[in-house]
Amino acid sequence: MQEFEWIAPCHFGTEAVCKKEIMKLGYEITEVEDGKVTFRGGIDAMCRANVFMRTTERILLKAASFEATTFEELFQNTKSIPWEEFIPRDGRFWVKKANSVKSKLFSTSDIQSIMKKAMVERLKEKYRVSWFPEDGEDYPLRVTIIKDKVTIGLDTTGESLHKRGYRKWTVKAPVTETLAASLIMLTPWKYDRYLIDPFCGSGTIPIEAAMIGANIAPGMNRHFISEKWTSFNPGFQYKRAVEEAKDVIIRDNPCLIQGFDIDGECIKMAMANAELAGVDDCIHFQKRAVKDLSSKRQYGFVITNPPYGERLEDKEGVKKLYTEIGQVFKELPTWSKYIITAFDDAEKYIGKKADKNRKLYNGMMKTYFLSYMGPKPPRVPGEK
Ligand SMILES: C[S@@+](CC[C@H](N)C(=O)[O-])C[C@H]1O[C@@H](n2cnc3c(N)ncnc32)[C@H](O)[C@@H]1O
Repeated sequence: MQEFEWIAPCHFGTEAVCKKEIMKLGYEITEVEDGKVTFRGGIDAMCRANVFMRTTERILLKAASFEATTFEELFQNTKSIPWEEFIPRDGRFWVKKANSVKSKLFSTSDIQSIMKKAMVERLKEKYRVSWFPEDGEDYPLRVTIIKDKVTIGLDTTGESLHKRGYRKWTVKAPVTETLAASLIMLTPWKYDRYLIDPFCGSGTIPIEAAMIGANIAPGMNRHFISEKWTSFNPGFQYKRAVEEAKDVIIRDNPCLIQGFDIDGECIKMAMANAELAGVDDCIHFQKRAVKDLSSKRQYGFVITNPPYGERLEDKEGVKKLYTEIGQVFKELPTWSKYIITAFDDAEKYIGKKADKNRKLYNGMMKTYFLSYMGPKPPRVPGEK
């Protein structure tokens, strides 16, 4: 079976969980860099990664990686890639996105047009034609140039993987589905432990947790751009991946996930989204202010994304809110609490230094993922 290298881009700071997911799927990791994990596998790897992965935005086929400091080098190196192995005669191909960081080549529009020209030249020679109809399937490329190192990826996903198909309604400043899943996976939470999101908004964190708990593959109900590609004929492999996804769903999970929000409209949205995701029966949503948060349960988890005072006029309110968070946390001494926030003084107003403060990037925004670790539950006799 022919093998390729695949790239899974992820949020900066979440590489460890992205890598773990790929290893769980059984593929060999070849490189872990800031914001992306590269792995090796056949066409099955592309299909299974697209269907099963929660923490990446897309799966790219790594077409090439080389150094380039001039447009001539970029042109020649791009032309030397065997594009005819990936792109059929009628394929529509273009550089959809180019990024350049700390590199000599920085004009992204020039990078895009020079690479397209190089590909046209190559394919003209190989297919012995002078003109391409480009009326077949789409083959979009993504290129990143970091410190003069060019990496070219052929996008196999299309619409970003965070579009799971369930979030029809959304609030201001939601976390993406991929980031929410990554946050949950950065904690030791498992489906048999209580989980509360007291600022649930449109329900992303509780819904992603319920999907993780029930082992529902996030991509099993959507389409991917590469499904129809004639070059690799992946249709059968995609079908197999979806069959596999159906087989591994766990249907008898306890319902231990709760989502609260002060805004009743958010609760309605969260409930509708959970229904679309097929997990409404295992999440309890309710309108509630964080100051009223309490639980008789022990050893649960809070994983949450509170407001962080984006606007200047919100700043005072945010200080009060984080003080309230600190007060309710004190009443949950056996619980483990995790907060993603862009509020620099979060720990100060919570009134306690976090056990761990991980820097994460939510797009371009720097955020902190604060961990307040609770004690481990006592062992039940006879339990391994
Ligand atoms: C950043 S949003 C959460 C977005 C959510 N993670 C999502 O993906 O949709 C913060 C949420 O906190 C809620 N909120 C604000 N003040 C609150 C309070 N005092 N108690 C509970 N919820 C509050 C807002 O209504 C908003 O939905």
